[in-house]
Amino acid sequence: MAIILDGKKVSLDIQDELKEEVIRRKEKGKKIPHLAAILVGDDGASITYVNAKVKACERIGFKSTLVKLPEITTEKELVAEIQKLNEDIKIDGFIVQLPLPKHINEQKIIQSINPKKDVDGFHPQNVGRMALGLKTFLPATPNGILEIIKRYKIDTVGKHCVVIGRSHIVGSPMSILMGQNYYPGNATVTLTHSRTKNLKELCLQADIIIIALGKPEFLTADMVKDDVVIIDVGITRIPDESKKNGYRLVGDVKFDEVEKKASYITPVPGGVGPMTISSLLMNTMNATKLNK
Ligand code: GUN
Repeated sequence: MAIILDGKKVSLDIQDELKEEVIRRKEKGKKIPHLAAILVGDDGASITYVNAKVKACERIGFKSTLVKLPEITTEKELVAEIQKLNEDIKIDGFIVQLPLPKHINEQKIIQSINPKKDVDGFHPQNVGRMALGLKTFLPATPNGILEIIKRYKIDTVGKHCVVIGRSHIVGSPMSILMGQNYYPGNATVTLTHSRTKNLKELCLQADIIIIALGKPEFLTADMVKDDVVIIDVGITRIPDESKKNGYRLVGDVKFDEVEKKASYITPVPGGVGPMTISSLLMNTMNATKLNK
């Protein structure tokens, strides 16, 4: 039976720590962190995510600003809004919630954000700094995974870490971070993807598996060895009439059977997911300190 990596608890612990830090900053007359978020259009999931970020700010005493723009906003108009936030000294960090409407070039938008305020860690300058092992804003999910590994003191040194999925925001940065020359890292990393031929064979050699595929219950017990550490980033809505909201959330791991073999495992929901907001808040606190 595995130890369940309780991301919800770790996330709340981090938020409590940040709340304390805000109180101490207030007492010393230091600046209170101020996060802004730009939301373009009315995608349901994006509205939920952004609202959760704003709520978390309120809970821990950060200031927050939500800039809501209509779906028909042009790229030029959005860049102008970003410029305003880049230049506003009250704002320590901000995010542009993704995905953006199809007529807007995402990369162009990301590159117009001041890297010093890019608390999502998506700007190429910050991605480059991350790849070089320099201090930077790490993207929310990788940052959250590292924090879980640290707080549960999971050994990564010399371990074989198989990362499944090479997305820009999870798999690719995770593969770089787990191989870096500091803890949590120093693992031997294999980055696998849709063209990988011998995935099961590689997984069977893994001490740590980080899976971010978006394919519900993809990783089964016959693909893992005993005592493996499982980090499940997948989160898919599966229709379920027995639930009040009509769906249940399922990860990329067949939890019930893999949990019996693993030493540690993140549940879905309640594992990696809740960590992402805390990562963003940690980055915002760091931005406030860096930009003073
Ligand atoms: N959409 C889904 N995840 C994220 C995230 O971490 N940051 C932003 N800006 N948009 C997202």
